[in-house]
Amino acid sequence: MAMTGVLRPGHAQIRVLDLEEGVRHYRDILGLVETGRDAQGRVYFKCWDERDHNSFILRQADCAGLDFFGFKVLDTATLNKLDADLQAYGVKTERIPAGDMLETGERVRFEIPSGHLIELYAEKTSVGNGCGLVNPVAWTADSERGIAPVRLDHALLYGPNVAAVQKLFTEVLGFYLVERVLTPDGAGNVAIWLSCGHKVHDIAFAEYPEPGKLHHCSFLLETWEEVLRAGDIMSVNKTPVDIGPTRHGVTRGCTIYAWDPSGNRFETFMGGYQPYPDYKEALTWTFDNFGQGLDYPQRKLHETFLTVVS
Ligand SMILES: [Fe+2]
Repeated sequence: MAMTGVLRPGHAQIRVLDLEEGVRHYRDILGLVETGRDAQGRVYFKCWDERDHNSFILRQADCAGLDFFGFKVLDTATLNKLDADLQAYGVKTERIPAGDMLETGERVRFEIPSGHLIELYAEKTSVGNGCGLVNPVAWTADSERGIAPVRLDHALLYGPNVAAVQKLFTEVLGFYLVERVLTPDGAGNVAIWLSCGHKVHDIAFAEYPEPGKLHHCSFLLETWEEVLRAGDIMSVNKTPVDIGPTRHGVTRGCTIYAWDPSGNRFETFMGGYQPYPDYKEALTWTFDNFGQGLDYPQRKLHETFLTVVS
């Protein structure tokens, strides 16, 4: 499948209450690779199999949550076109110069109707995954440390105006709707899962009265056994687990939700099916069956899923 336009999630910057405690969690337990620290005190990480310099950035602050979520686009011409398209649609955009984030080019930042800051960028230095480009090895020491996900996969964000968010992502940014949960009256969507490529979701949103909230950032593992191993690692390290290991009905991904020391939820997951953009009919869950969509075996709409965000 040709990939143009918005390619994939590229980075998430989140706030933590204690930077070094956050570093210990994301580096030693989750197993991300620390790739740098900048003059603002931010700490940069990547997953071991990612080639670009960074995908997950920690910033110390007084409250937890998400600063912004960024998507990599094909090239600079695409970045400029999407910036123009956003402005023509009525979205105010801001250009953040190259170098504001380590090893990252110019970014186009804009606020979406749910109150989240979304970014697009075309350039980020490729540092490789350590396996080499000629006769590459299959794994490295980084792939054996901690939970060791292969990539930052997606985020679920909570905020108001999900219908307007869906319209913006599908009509301007080229995403398509993969799955949805209907509102109780069936007239709208209370939650949506959107893809910009061949993944079952690149970003998801759920209706919530407070703007700009983070439900979770998700990190991909390759097997169900690795998800179970992630649960073992969480238990050994006394990481607070929210839900799982279990399987979602929505996306069919196999998952654990847990919290970092600042109360930001993160997900370790694997699986899900692979949709194509010509799948014109999104899979639909009725609100009364949301519990099966969240936790397929237990068919339970866990209270924390609806109420705990950062
Ligand atoms: Fe997720």
